[in-house]
Amino acid sequence: MRLLLEQQGDNQTLERIVVRSGKPLQGKIRVCGAKNATLAILSAAIMTDGEVILENVPDISDVRVMAEIIEALGARSTWLGEDTLSIKCSPVMGYEAPYHLVKKLRASNLLLGPLLARFGAARVALPGGCNIGSRPMDLHFKGLIGLGAELRMDRGNVSGRAGRLQGTKIYLDFPSVGATENIMMAAALAEGQTVVENVAKEPEVVDLANFLNAMGAKIRGAGTDVIKIEGVQRFRDQVRYSIIPDRIEAGTFMVAAAATGGDIVVENVIPPHFEPLSAKLREANVLVEERDDSVRVSGAGPLYPINIKTMPYPGFATDMQSQLMSLLSVVPGTSVIVENIFENRFQVAQELRRMGARIKVEGRVAIIEGVAHLQGTQVRATDLRAGAALIIAGLIAEGRTEIQNAHFIDRGYWNLENRLRSLGADIKRE
Ligand code: EPZ
Repeated sequence: MRLLLEQQGDNQTLERIVVRSGKPLQGKIRVCGAKNATLAILSAAIMTDGEVILENVPDISDVRVMAEIIEALGARSTWLGEDTLSIKCSPVMGYEAPYHLVKKLRASNLLLGPLLARFGAARVALPGGCNIGSRPMDLHFKGLIGLGAELRMDRGNVSGRAGRLQGTKIYLDFPSVGATENIMMAAALAEGQTVVENVAKEPEVVDLANFLNAMGAKIRGAGTDVIKIEGVQRFRDQVRYSIIPDRIEAGTFMVAAAATGGDIVVENVIPPHFEPLSAKLREANVLVEERDDSVRVSGAGPLYPINIKTMPYPGFATDMQSQLMSLLSVVPGTSVIVENIFENRFQVAQELRRMGARIKVEGRVAIIEGVAHLQGTQVRATDLRAGAALIIAGLIAEGRTEIQNAHFIDRGYWNLENRLRSLGADIKRE
């Protein structure tokens, strides 16, 4: 495991994906478990010294790194099958998440709450900023300090100490997903009741709450603006839980089908989780037919320009805007994307411009003038979703597109090029 990651270290930047436009995507594709639910639930898994068995776990590099981090704390993680992961924690665990691993995965900041709640101590390297924004943690700290933790910065680490955390009332200035998750996990083992207001309502937050309740927590209101947590003494020793499907992976396939004028069925999904995207695709004249656990998407007709504003759930997901930008680059007319969540999430625009797109970025607003065709060329992925967006652009560009930094894509998508090839895409890894 460690060797694999170190090997990846030196040839990561050389990995690239080559895409050529071709036939419209056709066929069926099954979506994997949600990356962002898995990362939070793996953090919560260290809060019990029993065995946690997780099903529908995506085998992606972010999950492997998070598993390596909790192993560094003393847990044992074992793949029991293609998408089933067992986590066994021992009564004696460390509480330091080392920098060389944390720098690979910002979501390791979700270990703060679990470590403080279970061990009364935590030392987690501050994850650096990343390509899409500064990613502050002030709301995480406000909540954990409100629960009675003492936190201090210590040479690039967050060091924390706490006796038994005490339930309290917390108001989040912004419905931060990570802050909501850290506070919910910490409060689950605190003394008394915690009420958190203006919380994130993302499906991944609800999945974490359901997992914590499966472990014996008493959490109500996840998915609404207010979450109430009655602290308990300890969690159950044996827990088996199945992760929800990844709504962003589902959306990525849906946009790829629309962009290529294809007709696909995306399976193993929960359609209400990506309603904002389905509504926007329908506005663009894409056919979106929802079934119980699948959705059919067909982009056969002419597409219309649309305006998008990213918002906290249930608004339009920021993790889907780069993919839409690729699609809208070739839709006749003017489309506008406003990115309200992160301050620097339009980097893919400069890569799309190299392919001939006409996109003007003014701060948090991107104005897209549709062009007849994109031209394939060398481009560079700057983050996970930008990488996925460039694959979509490559599927509709004239000629050959080479996407460098393919490792960004592997962080959140399992086997993406082979799965797209199964839908008829001309795509391979070099
Ligand atoms: C989660 O990040 C996701 N990551 C992100 O997915 C997703 O884009 C984001 O939520 C928004 O939906 C995981 O779940 C692992 P936030 P997170 O805290 O928790 C500000 C992907 O591609 N903020 O809701 O970091 C922050 O600056 C990734 O899968 C504070 O000001 O998101 C940002 O502007 C990318 N103070 C906004 O809130 C804080 O203490 C949203 O951040 C925390 C956040």
